[in-house]
Amino acid sequence: MSAVKHFLDLDRFDTKTLRDILDMAGSLKRAHADGVSKPIFAGKTLVMIFEKPSTRTRVSFQVGMQQLGGQVVVMSDAESQLGRGETVADTARVLSRYADAIMIRTDDPKKLQDLETHATVPVINGLTDYSHPCQIMADVMTFEEHRGPIEGKVVAWSGDGNNVATSWIHAAVRFGFTLRIACPDALRPTPGVLDWAASAGGDITVSEDAAAAVDGADLVNADTWVSMGDANADARRKLLQPYQVNQALMAGAKADALFMHCLPAHRGEEVTDAVIDGPHSVIWDEAENRLHAQKGILAWCLG
Ligand code: CP
Ligand code: NVA
Repeated sequence: MSAVKHFLDLDRFDTKTLRDILDMAGSLKRAHADGVSKPIFAGKTLVMIFEKPSTRTRVSFQVGMQQLGGQVVVMSDAESQLGRGETVADTARVLSRYADAIMIRTDDPKKLQDLETHATVPVINGLTDYSHPCQIMADVMTFEEHRGPIEGKVVAWSGDGNNVATSWIHAAVRFGFTLRIACPDALRPTPGVLDWAASAGGDITVSEDAAAAVDGADLVNADTWVSMGDANADARRKLLQPYQVNQALMAGAKADALFMHCLPAHRGEEVTDAVIDGPHSVIWDEAENRLHAQKGILAWCLG
């Protein structure tokens, strides 16, 4: 890792650093609740680039910076010169002269790498087609607030082996929990991330059997069947129908299992109302913790 403290993917971190970030997130959450937050980001500016839509990521980063005395500039590709072909590399060089950190949500992870290569300030991954690490930091934080250490626990994923699933795979290795992924064969996570997890000693299985994945699990996860930018929506919905998280599937998990979803949800598709609004669901805490987890990430990046 370069001297600049980028937050790109969880596999690039050691466990202690990720733990330190979560500890910081917890401290900042408590300080905010107690009304004793300090303006640790005073004089700092985060630039956020969105090449895809966002509600949670955009608002939680903006509010998080503001609550701690910092400022943000938000831009989309459509309203910046990126949308007219200015390169990511040149954009990185320019923004580094103005800002203290850059967050990007984009499609191709190569753009994130270009930003990392050419920025001289920290770059934060706000989601690519490959991964969504800020989300999983909030998810691990949420699990541990409700159930204690995630190490040794069983986490199930039922659905598309997508960007969020990839960050769960990274997290399983780094935080030491079992991850059982159930997905159609055509929608498995990329072989590269599974090979990495296997070589790193991860306890991760991938099958087409949702019931087997959820059996006795401490946490069950769902995500949209059609991610931003995905083609063939109808074919995906058909393929993923057996992976819907409904009450019958949840009944196979532990009696006190949690249900999470990064949101936005498509109720009646990947999850039923009875589950997402039911007693296992912690989705609002999960969404709130984006704010706190990202304060921890920003504190680490900005030193
Ligand atoms: N979970 C998540 O990243 O939500 P947004 O797309 O609204 O940012
Ligand atoms: N997998 C989803 C996550 C949204 C936060 C997507 O990429 O659209």
